[in-house]
Amino acid sequence: MSLNLRTYHELAGADRSGLPEQIAAQRRRVTERLAGVGRLIAVMSGKGGVGKSFVTAHLARALARAGRAVGVLDADLNGPTMPRLLGVDHSPLPTPDGAIEPAIGVDGVKCMSMDLLLQDGAPLTFRGPQAESFVWRGALEAAALREFLGDVAWGALDMLLLDLPPGIQRFHELGDLLSTPPPVLTVTIPTPESRDAVRRAMRAASDRSAPLLGVVENMVDGHFTGTAGADLAAEFSVPLLARIPWHPTPDTWDQLAQQLGSSA
Ligand SMILES: Nc1ncnc2c1ncn2[C@@H]1O[C@H](COP(=O)(O)OP(=O)(O)OP(=O)(O)O)[C@@H](O)[C@H]1O
Ligand SMILES: [Mg+2]
Repeated sequence: MSLNLRTYHELAGADRSGLPEQIAAQRRRVTERLAGVGRLIAVMSGKGGVGKSFVTAHLARALARAGRAVGVLDADLNGPTMPRLLGVDHSPLPTPDGAIEPAIGVDGVKCMSMDLLLQDGAPLTFRGPQAESFVWRGALEAAALREFLGDVAWGALDMLLLDLPPGIQRFHELGDLLSTPPPVLTVTIPTPESRDAVRRAMRAASDRSAPLLGVVENMVDGHFTGTAGADLAAEFSVPLLARIPWHPTPDTWDQLAQQLGSSA
């Protein structure tokens, strides 16, 4: 199965004069598709490998155990990990109206990921001249994200978590596709290096007026030392929602789910 990807180039080439209308129509489609979603939360970090996906998956499971209808959109298009984390073992199914049903993972969490569409797990490939491949990569990834948001039939959800890749690019793309930028949950590890990278991401989110829900500090009892979680929470006047140890128990996630519920 493949997504019906349309790149910006195709859009402009086919009908340059109608471009603004087409973009407006796509935004409408995304808005309509997400109409049944109560809360959208982007899980973000300026830094790679800090546990965004791990936190997203376990938080989603805890919310589902507490009786919420939860979905996770794996917005990491080139390094998707969500199906494995959520134990998804089947492909999403097309619906009669041309959309795609998300797959169902453990605890009933709905999941959509590029990994479920790419049979061989290969990254997105880029058409166009090699020298411009970074431009194409950006265009293709933005197009894939747009299709994900416009074509996945989530149905009624209390919460849709968006697991972002490292950096802030995907957050900006989301802000462009949605009518308002999504609320952001940030994940850091305790170190000063992580604090500095996550600070940049939080600034970018706050510059776009995205609500900052709070900070999760992950990997706190290992060899990483520092106070990044408390520092960022104080700097941005947001709660430090959780300090997650290595190999946490389900209780840890249940508490984070509760905290997040009360920070609505
Ligand atoms: N608290 C934890 N206890 C045990 N393992 C963890 C914990 N947090 C993260 N991990 C593991 O660390 C690795 C990196 O985590 P993860 O992939 O979630 O990071 P990420 O921030 O999403 O990375 P990327 O930037 O590549 O998207 C994974 O193997 C994950 O299972
Ligand atoms: Mg990840």
